[in-house]
Amino acid sequence: MTPTPPNIITSLSSPNDSPTSPTNQENTSQSNLTAARPTSPQPLSARSTTSQNLPRTPKPIVTHVGHSRNQTLLPLETLRSIYLGDLPGRLQDNEQGTLTYDHSRKKYPPIRNISSTEKKRILVTGGAGFVGSHLVDRLMLMGHEVIVLDNFFTGNKRNIEHWLGHPHFELVRHDVVDPFMIEVDQIYHLACPASPPHYQYNPIKTVKTSVMGTINMLGLAKRVKARFLLTSTSEVYGDPQEHPQKETYWGYVNPIGPRACYDEGKRVAETLTYAYAKQDRVDVRVARIFNTFGPRMNENDGRVVSNFIIQALKGEDLTVYGEGDQTRSFQYVHDLVDGLIALMNQPCQDPMNLGNPDEYTILEFAEMIRDSVNRGVRIIKLPSTTDDPQRRRPDIGRAQHYLGWSPKFSVGQGIGETVEYFRKVVRDNDL
Ligand SMILES: NC(=O)c1ccc[n+]([C@@H]2O[C@H](COP(=O)([O-])OP(=O)(O)OC[C@H]3O[C@@H](n4cnc5c(N)ncnc54)[C@H](O)[C@@H]3O)[C@@H](O)[C@H]2O)c1
Repeated sequence: MTPTPPNIITSLSSPNDSPTSPTNQENTSQSNLTAARPTSPQPLSARSTTSQNLPRTPKPIVTHVGHSRNQTLLPLETLRSIYLGDLPGRLQDNEQGTLTYDHSRKKYPPIRNISSTEKKRILVTGGAGFVGSHLVDRLMLMGHEVIVLDNFFTGNKRNIEHWLGHPHFELVRHDVVDPFMIEVDQIYHLACPASPPHYQYNPIKTVKTSVMGTINMLGLAKRVKARFLLTSTSEVYGDPQEHPQKETYWGYVNPIGPRACYDEGKRVAETLTYAYAKQDRVDVRVARIFNTFGPRMNENDGRVVSNFIIQALKGEDLTVYGEGDQTRSFQYVHDLVDGLIALMNQPCQDPMNLGNPDEYTILEFAEMIRDSVNRGVRIIKLPSTTDDPQRRRPDIGRAQHYLGWSPKFSVGQGIGETVEYFRKVVRDNDL
């Protein structure tokens, strides 16, 4: 089959229908573990997106992450020094082409000194991945003991290398599909490939990871009476027929399409989570995460932000699938980690959307990244992918109400930070 030639995009104009009207009102009186009937769907005008009518909230530059209320406040610089700085104890000699690990030079980032009653033993499955490794950094800096369980399918030891050998840290190579026993107080269950090329690589394994992995971790939580948090996804809403998406929306998912192994896998993972909560009184939390980006995204996993940044840094064309007028709401990873920690440490068990309601077209993202990295590259269109949702935007009313949480990073600041990280990756790895 002859591939369709790419179209070169020269301007940002897109079809101009009337805007959909975002509402941010949430029925916060819904009780724990009860599913409300779906609200009547708002008709979605799929091609109604221009940069002018999309909702955006201006945000000041962020210098600190976390919150003093739950003792998670931290200068952003502390985190940046971890993923932008050189690894402690690692000496690279480019001329000799060698790497030396010198334990005597290893200095860990300083952690909070908390009492043994405050200190928790926390299991993070998928802790060597993109989101997991940032969560691990924060939990370690807060002074907790952290155990990472990962099979390194999409994660990488490098993401958590700076904690190896620390007395508060353990790393276990293990597949969540197999049972695992350990005494812990909390379980953040993240293990699951999250990008389409990775979860579609072996769809059966993806379903097993979501279903059997979640059963194993819920069984562990039940046995040791640990609190359990599932990282679910906005993909449970599928190609949504109402906009923005509230937690009460039941979704519109193709059960046999190429994304089904992930979408349906996560839907069953949620079902299991609430079944264990009802039947066995496991103390559960469910985060429905919307698109997230930031340092340590896998540079080869085809996710849109890392794709654009790497393409621009290498001087290649930026590839947009379809017309580029499909929208996404991207949150910066530190906001997500704030939300996950807040969710784990509060009482509400209902599913919670965690995402940034600022909505952008994919084309705008491409333009923002091109403008901040390399104005010389072109943006080209390729045929759209199957079941690619047209619009995505979280209603975060519930998280605002229960967690006092909303994203602080503007997309612009997040892109700047991520570009800085990938510049280092491209430089260090000679990509
Ligand atoms: N990043 C996002 O935009 C996003 C959006 C929605 C939901 N999520 C969810 O957040 C979680 C983390 O996503 P991410 O972006 O960090 O993805 P990631 O691929 O970077 O991380 C997933 C981690 O899980 C590990 N893993 C995969 N299968 C495993 C298995 N069978 N046993 C043990 N470990 C396994 C991988 O090696 C990796 O370290 C996932 O559950 C994902 O579904 C992420």
